[in-house]
Amino acid sequence: MIKGYKKIIDETLIQYFDEILYNKTHKFAKKTAESMKYTTCLAGKRLRGILCIETCRIFSGDYFPALPSACALEMLHSQSLIHDDLPCMDNDDLRRGKPSNHKVFGENIATLAGDALISLGAQIIIEKTPASTGSENIIKILKEYNKAAGIYGIVGGQTADLEAEKINPDEDCAEELLKYIQKYKTGALFVASCAIGAIAGGASEEQINTIKKFGYAFGDAFQMADDILDVVSTSDVMGKTTGKDEKEHKLTYISKYGLDSAKEKLNAQINHIYDILKKAEIKSSVFDKIINSITNKTV
Ligand code: IPE
Ligand code: IPE
Ligand code: MG
Ligand code: MG
Ligand code: MG
Repeated sequence: MIKGYKKIIDETLIQYFDEILYNKTHKFAKKTAESMKYTTCLAGKRLRGILCIETCRIFSGDYFPALPSACALEMLHSQSLIHDDLPCMDNDDLRRGKPSNHKVFGENIATLAGDALISLGAQIIIEKTPASTGSENIIKILKEYNKAAGIYGIVGGQTADLEAEKINPDEDCAEELLKYIQKYKTGALFVASCAIGAIAGGASEEQINTIKKFGYAFGDAFQMADDILDVVSTSDVMGKTTGKDEKEHKLTYISKYGLDSAKEKLNAQINHIYDILKKAEIKSSVFDKIINSITNKTV
């Protein structure tokens, strides 16, 4: 099922780029359109898109109404990666096993491509979500999408991530700052992915709030694992440069607590995620596979 979900997201992304972007983009702006498609259509795991459509299926029995949103979320995620790799941010040359966007298109086009991906995602939600979802729900979806993209989401978290490079992990504020970074730079998009899937699936407010708790807890575990993998994995396996967090003085679970303690905290967080799902009586083999995939690689 996961493979099927990934395939349909990959194919729909290409379809949107060809139909909405290329056909409607003026020839003088085509370079940015190519840059947008380049990073988005490279081999990403599509976890945010998959969580979105699986959440919709859980609440409605059908994943299809959330498919445009899943693609929009993957565009927003790709934007965050393109900008994250820029020399003025993490200065990374490798992404998804290929040269980072700015290495291929230049920093100026990479910046513009990121900007345009955020708005293309919103356009897709508006133009492609089935009318049966209802305009009230489409507005609710856009609200979650917009929140995750901005200062109350990724931008807020990325700002804190940069600020944290200047502090020592032993400082008093480090614990609170680390939680903030995790919650916003990574958690916000997972929260939005689950919430949007639930809204597209006609879930109740209570159900939306429960699945948001799952999304937040999952995002926390996911970033912990990413920080661990930066230390224990390789660039070949990850498709991005490993061993960089220490060099860039990043505040992570490793720099704050050490590798062993970070692994223990990740395991505790995984148990917490399963508790949330159990309490909410949510059973999903797709969720299970995704949750297991983040710990499998870190041990
Ligand atoms: C990378 O996310 C960015 C982080 C939040 C750590 P993913 O590991 O999901 O990246 P892709 O989409 O598979 O490339
Ligand atoms: C990135 O965190 C979170 C984003 C908002 C992109 P990282 O900087 O650790 O992500 P990677 O390791 O470069 O993928
Ligand atoms: Mg970063
Ligand atoms: Mg980075
Ligand atoms: Mg990382």
